[in-house]
Amino acid sequence: MWKFYYIVSFFGAVICLNVPSTNVAPTITLKDGISMPAFGLGTWLGFDGKGGVQMVTSDDVEKAVEAAVDLGYRHIDTAYIYFTEEQVGRAVNNKIKSGVVKREDVFITTKLWNDKHARQDVVPSLRESLAKLNLEYVDLYLVHWPISTYSNNTVNEIDYIETWQGMIEAKKLGLARSIGVCNFNIQQLERLINSSDVTPAVLQVEVNLNLQQEKLRQFAREHGIAVMGYTPFGSLFPSKATSQSPPPRVDDPELVKLADRYGKTVPQIVLRYLFELGVVPIPKSVKKERLKENLDIFDFELKPEDKDLLKSYDKNYRTIDLKSLWSTSKFYPFELDA
Ligand SMILES: NC(=O)c1ccc[n+]([C@@H]2O[C@H](COP(=O)([O-])OP(=O)(O)OC[C@H]3O[C@@H](n4cnc5c(N)ncnc54)[C@H](OP(=O)(O)O)[C@@H]3O)[C@@H](O)[C@H]2O)c1
Ligand SMILES: *[C@@H]1O[C@H](CO)[C@@H](O)[C@H](O)[C@H]1NC(C)=O
Ligand SMILES: *[C@@H]1O[C@H](CO)[C@@H](O)[C@H](O)[C@H]1NC(C)=O
Repeated sequence: MWKFYYIVSFFGAVICLNVPSTNVAPTITLKDGISMPAFGLGTWLGFDGKGGVQMVTSDDVEKAVEAAVDLGYRHIDTAYIYFTEEQVGRAVNNKIKSGVVKREDVFITTKLWNDKHARQDVVPSLRESLAKLNLEYVDLYLVHWPISTYSNNTVNEIDYIETWQGMIEAKKLGLARSIGVCNFNIQQLERLINSSDVTPAVLQVEVNLNLQQEKLRQFAREHGIAVMGYTPFGSLFPSKATSQSPPPRVDDPELVKLADRYGKTVPQIVLRYLFELGVVPIPKSVKKERLKENLDIFDFELKPEDKDLLKSYDKNYRTIDLKSLWSTSKFYPFELDA
């Protein structure tokens, strides 16, 4: 009897402390058998306005990741080039130490940077990332770009086919459970698939209202490749929009009206839409209220006519093209017109 009560109160306490939100994303099974939560947290701080990556000057990301895990996030996206691996690692390890999650409950992704595309550089670079993360393995290792560069950021031309062989070694060594690529176009994916027995498990590309990537998603579906959608908000927030960015903004009257009908916010509608397209969104926020808001999308479903409106914003408009940096590379993946 006593034991029974003890167990009840023990679980009661655990549930109370550790699962404040009922919002836990469903998982999907990748083609290599690994399961991946269908929603994640981005940890890139953005550009610095001078063509570089924003420097990390606070422990915002560490705090955000801790808050996110408490809220029910189980999938964190980082990269060597974000300079946030240490913070992600500290936060995840803190949450493991305090018993909120076990290592196997969280899905951690990091990415190989462009200046480590030589086959023999891949595994050492992953080991460097793992040291920063203070983890023994990552769940997913991604080639960040099909483009290779020197460390001074100018274009080198190491073929990603070679890089992929290094990725396969990383998987064989157990340092990465799954491997995949980012920012590859259909031809590049096809060429990669043709060149190797190991198909990427995941393709991470920009997907948002203005860039819905129908053809690329179709190709990925045909090959059993899961699509992770980065920059899921695109130009939704005025701070991210330029004079070229097509509508909508977050205060768009039609979108606000639509969101109101579901008792949801516009960002939630956008994330839900991507989820229903079969995309795994990885919105970034360092603000607790927004972390909570963004995850709270698993208790409703969009009506077909509402999805028609959301589809109408697809303008093949890219928020991130890095044209000015790398368009001279023969491996530059995006359309070069205009
Ligand atoms: N593979 C690649 O090449 C690649 C490229 C780009 C991005 N990514 C990954 O994808 C992740 C997401 O993309 P992203 O960071 O470019 O853009 P994003 O997630 O679409 O947008 C992030 C911005 O939106 C704000 N925000 C988030 N939730 C909000 C909400 N509910 N209401 C209002 N504002 C909100 C954030 O500000 P606060 O933080 O202040 O809330 C931040 O300024 C990245 O962090 C990174 O992990 C990968
Ligand atoms: C960048 O580095 C490469 C390789 O070391 C070198 O050949 C090239 O001249 C450098 N470019 C610039 C602009 O410094
Ligand atoms: C890949 O292989 C298929 C089937 O052999 C072929 O039709 C296609 O042209 C190849 N694609 C590339 C980009 O090499």
